[in-house]
Amino acid sequence: MEKRIMSLEMVEICVTSRCNLECSHCYQHHDKNHHELAYEKLIEIVSFASSRNCQEYVLSGGEFFLHERAYDLLDYIFENTTCDDIKVVTNLSMADTDRISAYPRERIEFLVSVYGSPEAHDKRRGQGHYEKVAGKINELSQLGFRVSAICALDEENFTSLNEVLENPIFNEITILPVAPVGAAGMKDIPIKDSSEYADVLKCVYHNCHVYHDSEARCSLFPNGFSVKYNGDIFPCNLARDYGLGCIGNVSHKHIDDVISAFTNSDESNMYFEYKANSQVDECNNCPENKVCNRGCRIRALKFNNKLLSSDPFVCKIFTTQHEDIPFGTLYWGEAIVNELAAH
Ligand SMILES: C[S@@+](CC[C@H](N)C(=O)[O-])C[C@H]1O[C@@H](n2cnc3c(N)ncnc32)[C@H](O)[C@@H]1O
Ligand code: SF4
Ligand code: SF4
Repeated sequence: MEKRIMSLEMVEICVTSRCNLECSHCYQHHDKNHHELAYEKLIEIVSFASSRNCQEYVLSGGEFFLHERAYDLLDYIFENTTCDDIKVVTNLSMADTDRISAYPRERIEFLVSVYGSPEAHDKRRGQGHYEKVAGKINELSQLGFRVSAICALDEENFTSLNEVLENPIFNEITILPVAPVGAAGMKDIPIKDSSEYADVLKCVYHNCHVYHDSEARCSLFPNGFSVKYNGDIFPCNLARDYGLGCIGNVSHKHIDDVISAFTNSDESNMYFEYKANSQVDECNNCPENKVCNRGCRIRALKFNNKLLSSDPFVCKIFTTQHEDIPFGTLYWGEAIVNELAAH
């Protein structure tokens, strides 16, 4: 019998690889300004997701607001879907707050990348960027919009994490462990792990209750998927960033056909068979399994070639495993780290 996805928790779309910045840590550095999804394709993706009652749209890039139809896309989603959880991941510097002011506050949230203190932020993003972005964050907040922070954290900026945590303006804070991938001049950052950085990562996991033990899985396919700016579709956003498990490409095919072909292929079986984290047998006797929630399935797949296996990144945080491999390598994989460092 033909399998069909009837509902979607979350769809993420990276609409363009265009960006106005050159952040020192950015893993997308070598794609910059090369790819963009056509507006018609974006509408096709949203219509597909909406027909499956998609609960959450995450719109990102590159820099989302550099897509010339970015605001039209938002208008389309507001007018043609009932979704009230629309997130825009942005550096915010090019956002037109006048245009945004017309949007319904309760349906959209802005996830803004900030990196700690003004000095730590500007070191990544360029002199004066923090001030500009802090001004726009204030504007959005005063207009009544929810603003959250995404903080990519590494050896260089973890000591100023408190400046983000203590800022009451943020609705939520997402912390991304950074791989010192070498893009855009990051070669001067040492690829090593201090015990303090390891402690901060441990503390993040202990305090991030979304990671804690639950039967609920993340929005991994078939609960969701992520579309890259070149039209490739991946089972989730991390798989997209890893370039792992591409489902197909929508540039020259309708998304309905691409998703349907994958859904009915043997390759998709492992995703459909995964129902709960307790299926990761090798973690069942680990005392940390309630805190790390058995880690990330896609990282497990990347490193162990097995979806239902332990995640080496969280194993390094909580156990004595992988002591000799840097966090960055465990997060991104040696191949990606080497490839980016070689540019
Ligand atoms: C690629 S950006 C795209 C959206 C937007 N341009 C922005 O910066 O928010 C999405 C997020 O990825 C993060 N990021 C970029 N390179 C990273 C890396 N090497 N490790 C971890 N996070 C990274 C950025 O800091 C940002 O929060
Ligand atoms: S992190 Fe975001 S703002 Fe910075 S270069 Fe990458 S895409 Fe652009
Ligand atoms: S620390 Fe590693 S082995 Fe232990 S539960 Fe987490 S992923 Fe599994």
